[in-house]
Amino acid sequence: MTATLAPGAAGADQEFTLSAADFARVRQLIYQRAGISLHEGKQAMVYSRLSRRLRETGQRSFTDYLGWLDRASGAQADAEWQEFVNCLTTNLTAFFREEHHFHALAQDLRERGGRPLRIWCNAASTGEEPYSLAMTAVEALGAAAPVRVLASDIDTRVLDIARRGVYPAEARGLAPERLRRHFLRGTGANAGHIRVRPELARLIEFRPFNLMNASWSALGEPFDVIFCRNVMIYFDAPTQRRVLERMHGVLQPGGLLYVGHSENFTDARDLFRLRGKTVYERL
Ligand SMILES: C[S@@+](CC[C@H](N)C(=O)[O-])C[C@H]1O[C@@H](n2cnc3c(N)ncnc32)[C@H](O)[C@@H]1O
Repeated sequence: MTATLAPGAAGADQEFTLSAADFARVRQLIYQRAGISLHEGKQAMVYSRLSRRLRETGQRSFTDYLGWLDRASGAQADAEWQEFVNCLTTNLTAFFREEHHFHALAQDLRERGGRPLRIWCNAASTGEEPYSLAMTAVEALGAAAPVRVLASDIDTRVLDIARRGVYPAEARGLAPERLRRHFLRGTGANAGHIRVRPELARLIEFRPFNLMNASWSALGEPFDVIFCRNVMIYFDAPTQRRVLERMHGVLQPGGLLYVGHSENFTDARDLFRLRGKTVYERL
């Protein structure tokens, strides 16, 4: 029987066939695991991101790979599920992305009069965002800033990059003064790269965390500030609502939720009130 190809899917000239049923299964699985709603028309993306997994696991088709993933159990299955998720996330980020948030945070930090602050930066991707938070804290309050940042992401591969704290020297968003103050320049084999100074890195704890997890209590004491930027755009409205309810539960009353430029949660006005440009206050 000839498999029906999903529109835009890999054709005869490509190594594997991604059928409409395979694509539908991938969409279902990534939605169940990560809450990510993959739109119709993303077949080429799925093909290019997952075909390496087929090669590495020795599976001959998407149908075989997805069936095997479903049936596998134990440590090998856990590892492959993580690879599957890592392949399908989109990790675009930059230092001081949406810079107005960092100005607002710096002002809040100065107004707090030295009271300790706990920030959760979830969907932290490759680390530029949590390091930008740490730089903001040190610039506002000095090297002994009483600020702790928990940086998390579902994608373990980007978290490894974040933990390492090594970036290309021409990374976007870093002014020369910040480069000098917060980074070490690589020499020799590391030329062209910069590394976050240890005194900045020590403010941050990196930890994998899936926003679809049930175990939010493992996050510990309530946070004063949550950065959750440019991830909810991948979730549908019911998933967004569930995550917002959970965020409400782990934020101090009056705590602030910073979201991405295209994210609008004014529907959740029973939980949060708009306090500034894409900044919400927990009720
Ligand atoms: C586009 S990046 C945003 C990075 C950063 N927050 C920013 O605004 O620059 C989206 C991130 O969300 C993460 N992500 C996707 N689904 C997630 C989930 N269910 N739980 C936690 N993180 C998730 C992805 O791995 C990715 O690193």
